[in-house]
Amino acid sequence: MKGQILKVLRQQNGSVSGQELCQCMGVSRTAVWKAIRQLQEAGYEIEAVQNKGYRLLAAPDVLTEPELVSRRRTEWLGTKFYCYDEVDSTNTQAKRLAEEGAGHGSVVVAEVQNAGRGRRGHQWSSQGGTGIWFSFILKPELMPAQAPMLTLVAAMAVVKALGRLPGIEPLIKWPNDVILNGRKVCGILTEMSAQVDYVNYIVTGIGINVKSQVFPKEVALVATTLETAWSNGNQKREDEEPLPARSLLLETVLEEFERYYELYMQTKDVTLFLDEYHKYLANKDKQVKVLDPDGAYEGIARGINGNGELLVEREHTMVSVNSGEVSVRGIYGYAP
Ligand code: BTN
Repeated sequence: MKGQILKVLRQQNGSVSGQELCQCMGVSRTAVWKAIRQLQEAGYEIEAVQNKGYRLLAAPDVLTEPELVSRRRTEWLGTKFYCYDEVDSTNTQAKRLAEEGAGHGSVVVAEVQNAGRGRRGHQWSSQGGTGIWFSFILKPELMPAQAPMLTLVAAMAVVKALGRLPGIEPLIKWPNDVILNGRKVCGILTEMSAQVDYVNYIVTGIGINVKSQVFPKEVALVATTLETAWSNGNQKREDEEPLPARSLLLETVLEEFERYYELYMQTKDVTLFLDEYHKYLANKDKQVKVLDPDGAYEGIARGINGNGELLVEREHTMVSVNSGEVSVRGIYGYAP
């Protein structure tokens, strides 16, 4: 109910009477009053004026269930939010919940991950309040080989969502990074539980670095935050606008993910947004080094194909590189 009250307060420019809130929620005045008190205790500045009602003046930058419910604009993604102050990893927690029966579209969010994971066993630094760390559970009818493309769907969702912010121009480093001004601002990790020809569930986890933080030494040179790009942009903007709340950014990613997921599910590949993906592909026409387990090689990335594989031109032949097998370097300048 707190989420619904917040939603109504957010939709209203002026005050909302206690009576209206009671009618909307179908609960008593006392229940509304109690919920308002709890929201105030959680840091929401809600003005209560006699004979006028309630007005939301300011909200804290939190990723709690009421906050996310109040921002919800999606159809199916985020019908259920699982929000935690601290977990090991939202991907790991999402997998546990999926095993316990959590449904398609459930979203798991944490303020802190004490064992956040990246690809290839890397750690993912996830300090409290500095980022948006979340995962969602998907249960589509897919062949296991089609699941890795969901990383590309998620990358499209993130570039579109961040790109809605004035002055922010994100790009994708295939397959799972989103970059701002040549540095990594977001990483994506897709995992699944499957049988040979059947997907039980997929978990797609997204980590977006939002606020300044001390990055571990091994990533400090390649990582950046949205705040950094935003304050550089502020120099160009007339007024010093604050960065939108993390909850709003998260909701925008969910909204965009739904859009590209629908396209993906029509063909079970990325052909319907291939051209758009290419516009954001930082690797395009760039020299890349493919760290193939059978031996590293260099080439020029020319784009991706409908199956989401990177097309690398190598000694006049085109090789398609599967995201599962290799890691591609060359954007951050730490490898040729
Ligand atoms: C990478 O770049 O290697 C992928 C990083 C993925 C990080 C996100 S944060 C939310 C979710 N939970 C995790 O433990 N990992 C993903």
